[in-house]
Amino acid sequence: MTANSPGSILAALLLAAASLAQPCAGESYVFPAGFLWGTATAAHQVEGNNSNSDWWDWEQVPGRIKNGDKSGLADDHYRLYPQDLALARGLGTNSYRFSVEWARLEPEEGKFDEQQVAHYRQMLEACKANGLKPVITLFHFTLPRWMAAKGGWLNPSCVTRFEQFAAFAGQRFGDLADLWCTLNEPVVYLGAGYLKGVFPPGVQDLRQALVVMENLARGHALAARALRSSDRVAAAGAGPAAVVTVAHHMRVFDPARGWHPIDIVATRAVDYIFNKAFLNAITRGRLLFNLPGFPRVDVTIPFGVKSLDILGVNYYSRDLIKFNPRSPILSDQVSPPGCPTNDLGWEIYPEGFYRVLVGAWKDYGLPILVTENGVADGSDSKRSQFLLRHLQAMARAMKEGVPVLGYMHWSLMDNFEWAEGFWPRFGLFRVDYATQERRPTSAAQLYRQIIAQGRIELGKSEEFDADPPGR
Ligand code: FCB
Repeated sequence: MTANSPGSILAALLLAAASLAQPCAGESYVFPAGFLWGTATAAHQVEGNNSNSDWWDWEQVPGRIKNGDKSGLADDHYRLYPQDLALARGLGTNSYRFSVEWARLEPEEGKFDEQQVAHYRQMLEACKANGLKPVITLFHFTLPRWMAAKGGWLNPSCVTRFEQFAAFAGQRFGDLADLWCTLNEPVVYLGAGYLKGVFPPGVQDLRQALVVMENLARGHALAARALRSSDRVAAAGAGPAAVVTVAHHMRVFDPARGWHPIDIVATRAVDYIFNKAFLNAITRGRLLFNLPGFPRVDVTIPFGVKSLDILGVNYYSRDLIKFNPRSPILSDQVSPPGCPTNDLGWEIYPEGFYRVLVGAWKDYGLPILVTENGVADGSDSKRSQFLLRHLQAMARAMKEGVPVLGYMHWSLMDNFEWAEGFWPRFGLFRVDYATQERRPTSAAQLYRQIIAQGRIELGKSEEFDADPPGR
């Protein structure tokens, strides 16, 4: 972000608003005016019938998705978005993060589908009518089939194709949106698709993963430039026309044995690989790996310097790192014994949210937008406390001066959780997939209350009781 870029102006304005907000007496915090309260979804997980995408093809092979699930109609959000956006408004939120599906908008290489453009424009108009500022994601794990057939992000042509898609999106949607998220969780994407092999294309190859990381960084940087020049209209009526971010999954890593020098060193390496390398590439313009036993990478990312106006953070959990000589780079990633977990076994660790926010602000100095945070909780016994504790942790970071512009809860409603299929329940609204009925969870009520009050008691965000009293 240059000193005069639109993003920097917005950031400065929001920063000023944030710093003017005075924490109340005692232990509560008042959120700044204009704070973005929202929820997040992704096209493939909610829309249904995303049949021109690589994920659609991937799901057809048995054994890849738990319980043999296929995304199918998902939440039928493609058709039901008017009622879903009304639910978001009912929560009192003023923002909605969703993705426009590349595979729908460009079903054949170079040919954009005007009907789909009209669809997303209607959706953006509906956001406006519901008082929801859109945050548009351009790549949330899914590729058009034709791009996947050419090798996806492994092929350098994906970089230019993505740049062109971003320019197109900026031109066609820019009058209705100011906040742009180029990529969702690039490091998770390449880890799942090219190291673990559980996302398409199902590869397990570190060297390919590193090429994909480089191409994603290049793709982001060029898309950021394209958005800044193609979106010239401030949807808000005033202020910057295009504010660019990524949604970066940030985790806390701690040594499994705090006293063990090798665990400590291994933890630093994992933290660098997962949290920092990509962000360094798209803020400082250089992708660098210089770790013993790891392929050396040192490449310049054109237009990578200051390609972010703000930093989108997805926070879910922490891992403890236990050095494993058979896997010296990634080591073993474990959870503290007996810790509270979500249904997927991820540690619930609100204090980590505070630590991530403080650390990201210190390291990158960019205003932060929380682009995801949520919990898989089928019994609806943990979500309220999860939400409360994480908002308390965030408020504590804000009280200490970390400029957080908004919070998007993952997710508005239950949806198709990638390789896990439909069983994990992340929604503030429970979805009955047979009837497409949405029912509020108890956390929906709590979220509505906190938003309405615009303040929160700080409490003890470091404590999470697995089974809060009264449940
Ligand atoms: C994140 C993804 C999102 C969803 C949540 C649970 O890693 O960005 O699509 O799957 O996890």
